Amino acid sequence: MNWRVPLSDVDFGDEEIEAVKHVVKSGWLTMGTVTHEFECEFAAFVGARHAIAMTNATAALHLACVVSGLGPGDEAILPSLTFVATANAVRYTGATPVFADIEGEASLNISVASIEACITPRTRAILVVHYGGYACDMPAILSLAEKHGLIVIEDASHAVGSKLEDRMLGTWGQVGCFSFFSNKNMTTGEGGMLVTNNDQLAEKLRILRSHGMTSLTWDRHQGHAWSYDVVDLGYNYRIDEIRSALGRVQLKKLPNNNQLRRKKTTLYHELLRESCPEAGTPFQNHPGVSACHLLPILLPVGIGRDEFLEHMKENGIQTSFHYPPIHLFSEYRGMNMPVSSKLKMTEALATREVTLPLYPTLSDGSISLVVKSVQSALKRARQSVV
Ligand SMILES: Cc1ncc(COP(=O)(O)O)c(C=O)c1O
Repeated sequence: MNWRVPLSDVDFGDEEIEAVKHVVKSGWLTMGTVTHEFECEFAAFVGARHAIAMTNATAALHLACVVSGLGPGDEAILPSLTFVATANAVRYTGATPVFADIEGEASLNISVASIEACITPRTRAILVVHYGGYACDMPAILSLAEKHGLIVIEDASHAVGSKLEDRMLGTWGQVGCFSFFSNKNMTTGEGGMLVTNNDQLAEKLRILRSHGMTSLTWDRHQGHAWSYDVVDLGYNYRIDEIRSALGRVQLKKLPNNNQLRRKKTTLYHELLRESCPEAGTPFQNHPGVSACHLLPILLPVGIGRDEFLEHMKENGIQTSFHYPPIHLFSEYRGMNMPVSSKLKMTEALATREVTLPLYPTLSDGSISLVVKSVQSALKRARQSVV
């Protein structure tokens, strides 16, 4: 479909093309020096001791759960209002996801009180998701985790470059996981990164990423190793040099692009306040510096979302929603997972949430057009309610 305003857009230029060309010309495509450089630059950017590039964030989350020792009989607490990969990663290890509620209209992030209510003697980890790039209450979550001896894993898929109290998101927990999927703030097509300050975990993660082997094809090509041992049940979760080359260029552009996203978010909030005060705008005045990955709004109670989205589509505006709650999916519903409470906020707000277009090159004119469409879509939806 030819959208007047798409939901997201990539920022690719000659630098990305040159970087890819350089790798292709070099003749070395699998993980090598370009990936190593990407990892070093990413680690420096977020301020972590180690960054380990991966095929995608789902693989990163899976390995984060593996190295945290999750397994059958364990429970991990996470929000239901996230992408299904966060919960799937827990289940790959045989552990059970336990869904906590979100805070409310002002913040769609996991609620600390709800996390606390979900803790049982089987709880081993908390997986937080920084919704839209906005920080969860990490000081409170870390202190709760410390009190109960729990591991904290951050799904920072939306939060590359986000900060809280001057500390990058992804570096608060034991392990942080980032996604470079094509709609993310920086992209390699498919791709992801794990960060940690723990040397032993980093070593284990590197081994698990590549079949549990003690050396890489690159090491052998370089003459640094002749053979290898297999010391763990590993996976093939390696990134490749083409993606790492894209990642290096995208990382350089990220601070400026995140700044642009923040400016556009401020403009959206101003225009929405003026023209559609009945629409909720979560995360206004949220603490920290957000990567502003998503622009969520909440429809007034009683407005039909399908009709609203249809009207936006007629105006050529692509919208989405984040997310259908995981505990309501067929695959999860049938499993009788321990759902702590009724997840009241999650269920009430998930059906009202709409995500508006947001990307660094989105023009101010397009933002006004989107807001005008929100205004007319609300008017129309309200008329059909009356
Ligand atoms: C919150 C969240 N977690 C995990 C993922 C999975 O990322 P990937 O597609 O890189 O595996 C995504 C991707 O959309 C996401 O938004």
